[in-house]
Amino acid sequence: MKIFDDTGKLYFVGGVVRDELLGRESFDVDIVYEGNAIEHCAKYGEVIRTNPDFGTIRVNVEGVEVDFASTRSETYPRSGHLPLVDKIGCSLKEDVLRRDFTVNALAKSVKRGEIVDYTGGLEDIRAKVLRVLHDRSFIDDPTRIIRALKFSVRFGFALEENTRRLQEDYLANINYDMCYKRIKKEVMETFNLNSQEAFERFYDEGIYKLVSHVEVARPKVNAVEIVNSIGVETPWIVYAGGLDLSRLELTRIEQKILNDFEALKQTSLVDDFEIYKAFSSVLPETLAIYAVWVMQEPVKRFLQIKDIKISICGDDLLALGIKPSKKYAEIFDAVLKEKLKNPEINKANELELARQYVIPNLFRDLSGDTDSI
Ligand code: CTP
Repeated sequence: MKIFDDTGKLYFVGGVVRDELLGRESFDVDIVYEGNAIEHCAKYGEVIRTNPDFGTIRVNVEGVEVDFASTRSETYPRSGHLPLVDKIGCSLKEDVLRRDFTVNALAKSVKRGEIVDYTGGLEDIRAKVLRVLHDRSFIDDPTRIIRALKFSVRFGFALEENTRRLQEDYLANINYDMCYKRIKKEVMETFNLNSQEAFERFYDEGIYKLVSHVEVARPKVNAVEIVNSIGVETPWIVYAGGLDLSRLELTRIEQKILNDFEALKQTSLVDDFEIYKAFSSVLPETLAIYAVWVMQEPVKRFLQIKDIKISICGDDLLALGIKPSKKYAEIFDAVLKEKLKNPEINKANELELARQYVIPNLFRDLSGDTDSI
């Protein structure tokens, strides 16, 4: 796809310029028009949608959907929440000055190919440094503290000295009235990098306090190794699993993962049978949270025994003359207990175990529930 820029007012901005300079692939391409994009960019193809409040327009250009944004300036009337658009169609300079870090405030002219650098982003890319554009940046938008960690880990950049001090100042005086939807998005993106460094710095630098003010001590484990060995689908919840996540808008499945973890903490895990029963009904995420935040040994043991399964089923018990009832579960558990001790036993052994279990219990059952056999 080639955009023919006859105006000289189209610019690539933000991540795409940074990534090109770093020789990295970009996830998305942001293009701004210096002026009102809705009025000027419709000519590039079929208009798919517009958002006049933000001055954005999506156009199908030769089969590719491209978002054009108008240059805009913003203010933060309520710190920690989405900014308000001040002016649509401002200068390119005003547009880049609303952004988070100098390395994300670079623009590249589509027509001329030249880099426009109003904030010293080029030098900071060379020096591998993340620098905010002004001292209120984290107060306006605390998600930038997590973004700084994300970019720092992704690119191996360090926080510039004043930026680090501003981060520390903010974390010592957090205003918890903020948009947690945005915090969650950045926490997810940062932790889904699956980086031990991100895990350690999130806690050691106190960044976790943005999510929960309850103090936590970071477990001294290789969390990435645990996550990888268990094969979880959503790693972020494992790295964040020791926190009080009630401020984040959790999905039902995320809530279940955490509820199961709370229940597990109250569960006795002294032998293989208890470990097997407790862990086989939870998702891999819960297992990994337990291994990272409580202890690894029972989880390691579970991974060794989890594939042990008994061979007998309800029909086998029926063939033994045992009437279907809730006692079946008890019998299966008794057989499983033995099989965990001796995984070599075969189906005939299991049937024998079931028979042996039922006969002594028959006398007990006869005094009450006579229907079990
Ligand atoms: N931005 C910002 N403050 C934020 C989020 C975004 O100033 N809290 C600006 C930055 O200029 C950023 C651009 O919006 O470059 C686009 O944001 P986003 O897509 O989240 O980041 P990218 O820099 O494109 O990085 P990624 O590669 O992760 O998409």
